[in-house]
Amino acid sequence: MSKIVMEGCRRLSGTVTIHGAKNSALPLLSAALMADGVTELQNCPGLSDVEACVAILRHLGCRVEREGHRILVDNSGLCTSDVPDELMREMRSSIVFLGAIASKTGRAVLSFPGGCELGPRPIDLHLSALRQLGMVIEEERGKLRCRVRGRLKGCQIPLAFPSVGATENILLAAATAEGTTTILNAAREPEIQDLCSFLNSCGAKITGAGEGTITVQGVERLTACCHRVIPDRIETATYMAAAAVTGGSLVLKGVEPSHVATLFPVFEEMGCNVAVWQNELLITAPTRLRRVKSVRTMPYPGFPTDAQALIMAMACVADGTSVFIENIFENRYKHAGELMRLGAKIKVEGRVAVVEGVPVLSGAPVECTDLRGGAALVLAGLAAEGETTITALHHLERGYESIEDSLAAVGAQIRRVEE
Ligand code: EPZ
Repeated sequence: MSKIVMEGCRRLSGTVTIHGAKNSALPLLSAALMADGVTELQNCPGLSDVEACVAILRHLGCRVEREGHRILVDNSGLCTSDVPDELMREMRSSIVFLGAIASKTGRAVLSFPGGCELGPRPIDLHLSALRQLGMVIEEERGKLRCRVRGRLKGCQIPLAFPSVGATENILLAAATAEGTTTILNAAREPEIQDLCSFLNSCGAKITGAGEGTITVQGVERLTACCHRVIPDRIETATYMAAAAVTGGSLVLKGVEPSHVATLFPVFEEMGCNVAVWQNELLITAPTRLRRVKSVRTMPYPGFPTDAQALIMAMACVADGTSVFIENIFENRYKHAGELMRLGAKIKVEGRVAVVEGVPVLSGAPVECTDLRGGAALVLAGLAAEGETTITALHHLERGYESIEDSLAAVGAQIRRVEE
């Protein structure tokens, strides 16, 4: 097992290149099994969640080759529709394979994806939508046994909540269904737009991506294509926050500014200056951050829940008291307890967290509770006097490619050591 060892209170300065988006690469890899031929995905990040997807594709019979940030998927060997429990449990979002496997092969057997650190992760919206398209789904003994007689039939699907994963599963199932599917109250995240762009390049006929209503006109088949994964907007927010907590100044390259624009007002309210130029972003932070009055997480284009922990780390050392309202997940404050070990003053009541900023944190041993909570601990370690050690790094590796190397390259005293 390895751990991060770091010394904080060093101002960061320099350039960081942003990787491809984890939450786009995962559904794109699932979609690739539906596209006949050899799909090429460029700008795929080197993450354990991506490796988990690759393992599932290989188990299904696809040939998958990885060359750096390029992944090739040949679906011609597709030969099974069962995903074993151990592969499903590797990654909570493996449920996004359901729509792809069932619509491509006519059946699918997956285990119910476990909950995760953010609380129970229900899939009722996924299952109800896929059943409306004609998929027969039996839930028994923790398994989902799915069958499609002939082709799925397009229909209108109103979503009670703009679930990202449910929208993705519907898109994958509807792309080759008979007739037209209309998704009402669809998720509008950039990752949804990226998936629709990929599917259309494979021959699908999807309009309305990024809006609340998406229309899918089913086609007979999808053909492999080459696609570049969009930049990771949450990784972008993470390095913005790294500059912010250290009073530093960073240039981020390879970003998509429009995907993080809703974050700018929060960083500016806290005293940072953000400038964008094409696919570059410059963030400059004050010596000490000001508090943010309130942060309410919402579906895109509202403030992203995945950035809540990152801004909380900033609020821990800001001047004043900040309030967070987490509207998306039930239990997304587990990082608060670990931040408090570093001297943060946080009170959590249900979906509300109140953070009273302190001038500086004190280094201590802490443990990642989940992916973005782990990133918050790294950020807090950057703002802490003395040594911070961070364990349970498998959470971080799900969503950040060598975060310690990127931070060390811009002045952080941070390294990974074997425990
Ligand atoms: C995606 O998760 C992302 N993961 C999450 O990022 C992100 O936080 C989330 O969208 C919201 O933006 C991936 O894309 C792999 P949802 P997903 O379905 O699809 C409830 C990260 O850190 N819900 O939009 O699981 C659910 O419980 C991860 O990168 C149902 O009730 O999110 C949650 O409260 C964390 N029934 C809310 O909706 C359902 O059938 C949002 O879930 C589905 C979801």
